Amino acid sequence: MKEQIELIVAAAKKAVDEASDEKQIDEIRVKYLGKKGELTALLKQMGSLSAEERPIMGQMVNEAKAKLEEIVGAKQIQLKEKATELKLKAEQIDITMPAKEAKVGKLHPLNTVLNDMIDIFQSMGFDVLDGPEVETDHYNFECLNVPADHPARDMQDTFYLADNLLLRTQTSAAQIRTMENRKPPIRIICPGRVFRADEVDATHSPVFHQIEGLVVDKNVTMCDLKGVLEQFAKEIYGADTKVKFRPSFFPFTEPSVEVDVTCSECGGKGCRVCKGSGWIEILGAGMVHPNVLRSCGIDPEVYSGFAFGIGLDRLTTTRYKISDIRLLFENDKRFLDQF
Ligand code: DAH
Repeated sequence: MKEQIELIVAAAKKAVDEASDEKQIDEIRVKYLGKKGELTALLKQMGSLSAEERPIMGQMVNEAKAKLEEIVGAKQIQLKEKATELKLKAEQIDITMPAKEAKVGKLHPLNTVLNDMIDIFQSMGFDVLDGPEVETDHYNFECLNVPADHPARDMQDTFYLADNLLLRTQTSAAQIRTMENRKPPIRIICPGRVFRADEVDATHSPVFHQIEGLVVDKNVTMCDLKGVLEQFAKEIYGADTKVKFRPSFFPFTEPSVEVDVTCSECGGKGCRVCKGSGWIEILGAGMVHPNVLRSCGIDPEVYSGFAFGIGLDRLTTTRYKISDIRLLFENDKRFLDQF
C-alpha cells in the first residue's frame, strides 16, 4: 500500500508539472484528491488492514493528500497568474499609436465669408435681419419704385409662383419690410438667397446670395455711404485696397453708384479674375429714393438714408480664386474639403 501511495503521488506530481492551464489542473485535482479520487479510494481499502497498520497507513495517506493539495494549490495560483498576464497582454492598448482623426464639419466658403461680413457690419452697429424668400410683387418691386410697367423689371428675370407671388430677385425687399416695422434710426443688414431665371454658366446661377444694407436717420449723406462701404471693402479685401464709386442707376436710389475694388488677385494690374480691368465690382448702392421712404411712411423731408446690395457669391469666388460659381452650389465634398 505504501508503494501504491508513492506511485500515485509521483504520477500526480508529474501530471501537475505538465499541466498548462486552469482546466487541466482542475481535472488533476478531481482525479487524485476528489471524492472519487485515487487517494480517497485508498482510504476506503483501509478496512482490510490490521489494527496496527491502519493508523500508520491512514497517516501516510493523509500526509500524501496534504502534500498533493499544496502542490496543486500552488500550481493553480501560478496558472491563474499566467492566465491573467496573457489576458492583460492581449488587451493591451498601445497609447503611442496615432489616434483616429476626428472628422469635424466645416463651414461652406459662402458662410465663412458671410460671417466675416456680418462681423464687420455688426462692429459698425448694424442689426442682422432675415426676410422671406417668397415675396409679393409689392415688396420686391412696387415699393422699391419699380411699378408694373417700369423697364427696370427687365433687368431681373423673375420666377413667378402666382400672379403677385414670386421668388425674390433681390434682398432689397427687406428694406421695405424693415421701414414698415421700425422707426429711424435704422441700421440693418439682411443676408439671403435670391433667384433669377438666368442662363447657368461660370458666372451666373439661378440662385445666388446678396446682403442688403439700409441706414435711415436724420442727416444721412452720401459721405456716410462712402465711409461705410469703403471701410467694409478695406476690412474684407485688405487695408491697401482701392475703392471706386461709379455712377449707376437703380430705381430705388438717387443718386446710385456701383462700387469696384482693386482686384485681389493682381492688385490692379489686370488678370484673368478681373478680366483684364484691374477692378472687381462688388456691390450696388445709393441714397434711398424719396419715393421709397414715402411708400413706407417715412417723411423724406426729415429723414434720409442709404442702401446697398452686396453680391456674396462674387466676394467668395474672388477671395478663394474659385473660377466657376456653380462649384458653390454643387455640394461636391471634394471641392468643399479644400476650405
Ligand atoms: N438690388 C440690387 C441688385 O440686385 C442691388 C442694390 C443696388 C441694392 C443698390 C441696393 C441698392 O440696396 O441701394 O442688383
